[in-house]
Amino acid sequence: KIYYDSDADLELLKDKTIVFLGFGNQGAAQAQNLRDSGIPNEKIIVTNREDAYAEDAKSKGFNVEHNFSKAAQVADIIFLLIPDQVQPRVFNEQVAPSLKDNAVVVVASGYNVFFELLQFKPSQDVVMVAPRMIGSSVRSLYVKGKGFPCFVSVEQDGTGSGMSIALALSRVIGATKAGAIASSAREEVAMDLFAEQALWPNIIVLFREAFSVLKEAGCSDEALCYEMWMSKEPAEIFERAAEDGFIDQLKYHSTVSQYGQLNGALQLDGSAIRARFKDILYNQVLNGKFCREFSSIEQDLEKDGNANPLNNLYEEHSKSELAQAEKRYQYLFTNGSEHV
Ligand code: NAI
Repeated sequence: KIYYDSDADLELLKDKTIVFLGFGNQGAAQAQNLRDSGIPNEKIIVTNREDAYAEDAKSKGFNVEHNFSKAAQVADIIFLLIPDQVQPRVFNEQVAPSLKDNAVVVVASGYNVFFELLQFKPSQDVVMVAPRMIGSSVRSLYVKGKGFPCFVSVEQDGTGSGMSIALALSRVIGATKAGAIASSAREEVAMDLFAEQALWPNIIVLFREAFSVLKEAGCSDEALCYEMWMSKEPAEIFERAAEDGFIDQLKYHSTVSQYGQLNGALQLDGSAIRARFKDILYNQVLNGKFCREFSSIEQDLEKDGNANPLNNLYEEHSKSELAQAEKRYQYLFTNGSEHV
């Protein structure tokens, strides 16, 4: 089911105090959209630790409260828009104990709800309003008078009016203009984490190995970088696929290319990759294995240097032939220098 503006009743938000926990990518975009949709500024509070994001909120005229518990006490509706990995710590310790019994908690991702990492009272509403768009586009599309795709769901209906509130909120942040798609935290987590842990890692490896095989066959680094992605051809192909269809976009390619791709895809046996994909989905994503592993390193992600596992992963990937070549030719591409 897809919900549009006409499905949303803005009366439900009248006189409600709306708190944004976080003013980052999504927080800044959604808070501004909501205010521009007519929610009075005095009914909006941005609660943020003292950092550059808080300064940004102040500079945009928002009321900023640094004490999360104080903001939580007055919240009728609270958007959780700080990074997923810090939400359980911050929410459970500094927000949940002060929240009203009938408060509405809004998440922009299903992660912490699906894996039951947040502590709610049964009387509270928990809704998911999850834009399928980066924050800057959530804002720029709204400013252009357009909507953006979004998933909406009720994960806990403490008050009995969770869906109506979720739709009203989807409308004021600008989502129902394009259509908010009925979903669930489970569906959002399955698709998101599967794409991140199964689909895109395969694409990274496909490009990395293709690069090495062609380099070994005598292709130059600069030709490979441009041919494979720096020309932005893959980006164009995906844009065409979104407009014309995943396979039908092939009609824009040469006949040699069309035949090669269509025939080549049929020659590949998908059963091994399908089995691997299923294994990742069921035995890594949906059973919570990844979540437990990620929770155990969460605090290390704020450390510097090699103590941060993310830095080590970047370092490991920077060793591939593709990454080494790219470093040199990206410089050439952006600076136009002849000296690489
Ligand atoms: P972000 O990384 O931009 O968050 C920054 C905000 O979190 C700032 O206000 C900062 O002060 C605060 N913050 C960071 N660490 C903190 C800590 N340790 N304690 C207290 N506050 C802290 O977050 P982003 O990307 O906007 O994500 C927010 C939510 O939106 C997440 O649930 C995410 O999954 C979801 N989402 C994000 C999208 C995106 O484009 N980035 C797209 C769709 C959903």
